[in-house]
Amino acid sequence: MAFPIQRPRRLRVSPAVRALVRETELSPADFVMPFFVRPGKGEKRPIGSMPGQFQYSPDTVAQAAAELPALGVPGIILFGIPERKDEFGSGAYAGDGIVQRAIRAVKEAAPGLAVMADLCFCEYTSHGHCGVVRKKDDGFILDNDATLELTAKTAVSQAEAGADIIAPSGMTDGMVGAIRKALDGSGRQDTAILSYAVKYSSAFYGPFRDAAESPPQFGDRSTYQMDPANAREALREAALDVEEGADMLMVKPALAYLDVLASVKARFGLPTAAYSVSGEYSMIRAAAEKGWMDERRTGLEVLTAIKRAGADFILTYHAADAARWLGA
Ligand code: PBG
Repeated sequence: MAFPIQRPRRLRVSPAVRALVRETELSPADFVMPFFVRPGKGEKRPIGSMPGQFQYSPDTVAQAAAELPALGVPGIILFGIPERKDEFGSGAYAGDGIVQRAIRAVKEAAPGLAVMADLCFCEYTSHGHCGVVRKKDDGFILDNDATLELTAKTAVSQAEAGADIIAPSGMTDGMVGAIRKALDGSGRQDTAILSYAVKYSSAFYGPFRDAAESPPQFGDRSTYQMDPANAREALREAALDVEEGADMLMVKPALAYLDVLASVKARFGLPTAAYSVSGEYSMIRAAAEKGWMDERRTGLEVLTAIKRAGADFILTYHAADAARWLGA
C-alpha cells in the first residue's frame, strides 16, 4: 500500500496527534550533570571555553548539586582540579583529595543524588596524561599496569568518600576488573561501575581541558583512547568491560558516535550512557551566542537524538537547562 492510501502526514497534523505517536520521550531523569571542583571556599569561577559552566569549590558544588533533585535530575559526576599535581597523580587517591571532599559535601547537602566519581589521572598528573608515564625511545608510553594499581586505590578512596558509582575514564586495559576486585576486597560490593568503555581520542574534548586544567604537556592521548574511525573495536572494548564486571557502559563523545552507541546498546543490553562532551555543549552555546542557532531547540534535539540512538542516560552540561526546558 502506498500513496495515496498511505499519507504519513496524517499523523503530524496537530501537537496532540504528534504526542500520541512520539517514539522517544526525553525526561529530566535521563540526565547527569558534570561538575568541576577546585580547592577553596565560596568559589564559582566561570569557565571561558564553556559559557554557563563553572569551577566550584566543595561548598558551592554541594549547593549547586542540591538544586538538581527538584528539577528531576537524579545524578552528577565530579571532576577534580587538585591543589598540586605530581608525576603519579596522587591527588586522585588522597583521602582528603578534592573529589573526595566534594563527594562528602554533596552527600551531606543532597543525600538522594546518585554521585558518580570520574576516575582518571589527567587532572592530577604534572604531565597531564591519564596515568603513569614512562620514557620510551625518544617518546613516552603510558604504563598500563602501573596505572591499574593507582586506579584501584583511587576507586576505593572515592567509594569510601561516598561515591555511589565509579566511572573510570582512563582507557587503561583491565581497569574495570582492577576496580571491581579492589572494591570487593574492601567491602564495597554495592558500589557500581560505569565504564567509559568506548572513549575516542576526540577533538570534542577541547573545552574540557581548559575546564579541568588538564592538557597533556607533551604528546596526545591517541595511544590509549580510541581512533574515531573504529566501530568494531568499540564492541571489543565493551565486551572486555562487560566480562570484567562493568555494571553500565558508556560511549563518549555522543553526537558524532550515535552509530556506535546504537550498536553497543543492541549488542550488550546493559544500561548504556552517552557523554555529550564539552565540545558538543560549547558549539551549541557559541552558535547560540552568535544568534545562529536556538540553544533550547538545538539542545533538546541533540539530547533526543542521543536517547533515540539507545542511551539510557546522558551526561550533559545542559542537564539543568534541559530539565528546565522540559518543565517549561
Ligand atoms: C579524563 C576525561 C576527559 C573528559 C572526561 N574525562 C578528557 C580527556 O580524556 O581528554 C572529557 C569530557 C568533556 O570533554 O566534556 N580522561
